[in-house]
Amino acid sequence: MKIAHFSDTHIHSQKILGYNPVERFHFALEHLKKNHSDSDMLIISGDISHHGVLDSYKKFDEIIEKVKLPKHLYPKLILGNHDNREIFKNYFTNVPIDENGFVQYDIEIEDKRLIFLDTNIPKSHQGRFCEKRQAWLRKKIEKSIIKNQKVFIFMHHNPFPLVELDSDYIGLLDRDQFKLIINEYKNIIKHIFFGHQHLTVSGNYLGISFSSPRSINHPLVTNFSKDYRLGSADTDPNYNIILINNDSIIVHNEDFLKVKINWFETTQSGWLEENED
Ligand SMILES: [Fe+2]
Ligand SMILES: [Fe+2]
Repeated sequence: MKIAHFSDTHIHSQKILGYNPVERFHFALEHLKKNHSDSDMLIISGDISHHGVLDSYKKFDEIIEKVKLPKHLYPKLILGNHDNREIFKNYFTNVPIDENGFVQYDIEIEDKRLIFLDTNIPKSHQGRFCEKRQAWLRKKIEKSIIKNQKVFIFMHHNPFPLVELDSDYIGLLDRDQFKLIINEYKNIIKHIFFGHQHLTVSGNYLGISFSSPRSINHPLVTNFSKDYRLGSADTDPNYNIILINNDSIIVHNEDFLKVKINWFETTQSGWLEENED
């Protein structure tokens, strides 16, 4: 299985930190179409819009239309803190909603279950995973156990601090409750995918691997500090390409603005030589 993981498109009519989100989303989609049309799906892990307004969601669809993205790659969407749940639900009527009105859903593909979580709380950059959302997740994981499926979780907020607890002002408030669920089901959960901090980061949490791409628009700088600190820099945005095999999960970072590639040619002697083109 091949999955393209975008995050934090922040669609907005103006530049953000000097970058044009419409232009960059367009560019990333063109890159995806050209290089990864064979992906099984595209997932965008939240902050679709910068201010959660209807016009930005319409613009988001316009860009997808303009790029003529293959139908099977129309993105699976997740809410971020910059999104507005009610406006999102009224516009993206095809995105499934759980029994409590949260934008949570799952996709079963053979021996895998992909679970998409809603960690949004209105008017806050922090995330919530309340009891109702927790119960929904438990129910889905229990179903996966019965069917002997592997679980892959996609969400917007990082569910644990990426550096120090004190500096994680915008993380998930219910991280302890989330941890309990993850710990209980760590044998069946195979990977956690998130966005939110606009950082390329990967590692292991409670024995489960995780990864996050930078924003499609504005990358931020790693917050290696005890105090809350975030910064922007002229680093590249990226998205991830995830390859899920029977015995591995491989996460590639695609620096989609860097498009000049010199492919090596294989010669008769088997050596690789730089293509002069
Ligand atoms: Fe964001
Ligand atoms: Fe965010």
